[in-house]
Amino acid sequence: MLNEGGWTTAGLNQKAIENLERPLARRVYLHEEVGSTQERARELARRTPGAPHGTLVISRVQKGGRGRLGREWGSPPGGLWMSLVLRPEIPVYLASRITQAAAVGVAKALWDFGVEARIKWPNDLLVVQRGDLVGRKICGILAEAGVGDTPGGYRRLDFVILGIGLNANLDPEDLAIPDREVATLRSELGRDVDLTELLDALLSRLNVELERIEDFSAVLDDWRALNCTLGKLVRVERFGEALEGRASDLTPEGALLLDTPEGTVEVFEGEVEHLRQEGM
Ligand code: BTN
Repeated sequence: MLNEGGWTTAGLNQKAIENLERPLARRVYLHEEVGSTQERARELARRTPGAPHGTLVISRVQKGGRGRLGREWGSPPGGLWMSLVLRPEIPVYLASRITQAAAVGVAKALWDFGVEARIKWPNDLLVVQRGDLVGRKICGILAEAGVGDTPGGYRRLDFVILGIGLNANLDPEDLAIPDREVATLRSELGRDVDLTELLDALLSRLNVELERIEDFSAVLDDWRALNCTLGKLVRVERFGEALEGRASDLTPEGALLLDTPEGTVEVFEGEVEHLRQEGM
């Protein structure tokens, strides 16, 4: 149910979010509990008329939060679980740029809050201690495109649902994720943050990055400066096979270049694991 008055206990309030006057919070849907903000945002985007660019869905709790590759995304109170309806005026083949632009925006917002988050390709945000090759995940991003047909039969990018799951005011053990090490803003800063201020920083940083996706080389330069994957030995699971090699760079469209004993491979999607051992 939409909470018109806003939550007070969770530190978010509908009016306070609207008063931020951010282009990415043009319409705000604040929920106490939903299955997944991703599904809720998609449903709003598909309505007639569809929700406009800058429709923001947030829920205090998600009962069916989803991550990449169909994984479960634990979403107890204290996190910032949100999805944005975006309607970028770009062709379908450029939609994947949103993934990396969003990662840069979220990373910068985390730095604004004193957390030196690093991007693991393509768009996980990790807290990486010196000497630690693996890192602990503090935020996950899920960008899903809605594609329609034009009268001429071409595929058109109708919308993108950009989901962000940021572990904020909670303890890592609240997330009950056995197979992944996690960090939260609370664990890193030793205090809770004001979620409205956090949201404001995110919406502002995201908007700047999304507005320059046509100048993608600038976004990728910032991605390179903020990443923790390039130069590492990694294993990539894709299409059921495992590839190992050294992550050497990105292509101009953000695919990962992997130097393997068989040559350089371009990886467009897949799950990257940073390997601890050195040498190939
Ligand atoms: C990942 O790293 O696997 C992506 C995680 C994305 C989680 C967010 S939380 C808000 C939105 N709603 C969902 O169900 N998923 C995304």
